[in-house]
Amino acid sequence: MNRKLPSRIVRLVPLATGAVIAAMLAASPAAAADFGPVKTMKVDAKKAALGKRLFFDPRLSGDAAISCSTCHIPDKGFADGLPLAKAYPGSEGFRNTPTLINAAQKAAWFHDGRIGTNLNDVTRESITETYSMNMDMRLMQERIKQDPIYVKMFKDAGYGEPSNGSVRKAIPEFLKTLTSRGAPFDKGNLSDAAQRGFELFKGKAGCAQCHSGDRFSDDQPHNTGVPENPEIWSNPLRHITYVAFGMFIGIENYMNVRRDVGAHIRTHKSDGSDIGKFMTPTLRELKQTAPYMHNGTMATLADVVTFYNNGGGTDANQDSRIKPLGLSKEERANLVAFLESLSGDPLTGPEHVWKDKINVNYAAIENWLQAKN
Ligand code: HEC
Ligand code: HEC
Repeated sequence: MNRKLPSRIVRLVPLATGAVIAAMLAASPAAAADFGPVKTMKVDAKKAALGKRLFFDPRLSGDAAISCSTCHIPDKGFADGLPLAKAYPGSEGFRNTPTLINAAQKAAWFHDGRIGTNLNDVTRESITETYSMNMDMRLMQERIKQDPIYVKMFKDAGYGEPSNGSVRKAIPEFLKTLTSRGAPFDKGNLSDAAQRGFELFKGKAGCAQCHSGDRFSDDQPHNTGVPENPEIWSNPLRHITYVAFGMFIGIENYMNVRRDVGAHIRTHKSDGSDIGKFMTPTLRELKQTAPYMHNGTMATLADVVTFYNNGGGTDANQDSRIKPLGLSKEERANLVAFLESLSGDPLTGPEHVWKDKINVNYAAIENWLQAKN
């Protein structure tokens, strides 16, 4: 084994030792065969119910106009169907919104894997950054305290008074409820085409080298040569957001960077060989989450399979496992049928969606001089 490999991974995902072990196991073909259903997670029902209301509540954004569910839409597999995300007004995103289904089981989050700690930190970033909700969490806390329904829900959930710390715990508890279920693949219900596609996936097409385990991801970054989305360099609002991100995240010479450097922001290799690596995404629920890749440049699964069949992109640092596959038209269709068989029941019922209207017109406290905290 390449002796350098483990230390590089450890630096990249410092706290994700489980993922490091999983990645090392995934290197052996036997472990890669572990494609069972995604296990459900243990959840505290009251905390998750509170997290669900918060997830759908626009008062968590600076101008109270957008919520987590503005971009993570239940009908779209908790993604948004757009190539690149929107953002808080005055800003626009530079990445494709990923699905949140099974996201609680990941080892590192965001397309570059920049958060390798926990969902509490991911939630903080999602609430506070301008490219998502642009909210000062101290203000958010006071806003939430004004709503008697929240006061009761926080108390019932065992958190006491509403606080920004408990918001960052309750939302992750809700995210833990989002687990794939009902996929034909898990029910052993594959069409002949999908079954043949599965064999290609594990064999000739080599997909399982990176898309392994129950989520079909090794939780590692790789360079597959996905081309840039030119929109990030031509739409000023997106470009401004990317440049600002480059500055505060510490991309060297960020004013002169003309590509999304991906996981380089974690490893900063001086030879730049880590530029253009992105985290392997899950292959579950793809039917709901088009378009694909970190920058939404591929509209359909057929486009993705054609991309791989052609040997990926043209990046000098492209992973050596991405190479022309020589798949026939029928084999490509089989692979698409297999990928489709990994999509299950949409999570759009009351268990996963806050269905009540969130009433923001509750009676205000008339006179704070007489209110008791
Ligand atoms: C304006 C759109 C938008 C809003 C609002 C938004 N997100 Fe996201 N979310 C994204 C995008 C885009 C990414 C990927 C960003 C990246 O890779 O740099 C993302 C990534 C994530 C991830 C990581 C998923 C993964 O597979 O790594 C989680 C978890 C997440 N968001 C949760 C939330 C939560 C919770 C909220 C509300 C507090 C929220 N998001 C609000 C667009 C949004
Ligand atoms: C060397 C590792 C590797 C191999 C081999 C590989 N992939 Fe990927 N795959 C990735 C990475 C990394 C991404 C994300 C790239 C990006 O966002 O720019 C990805 C993205 C995808 C996506 C997009 C998912 C989404 O939600 O955006 C699909 C679909 C996919 N791969 C299918 C396949 C298939 C089918 C094969 C085999 C023909 C394959 N992959 C082989 C690493 C790999």
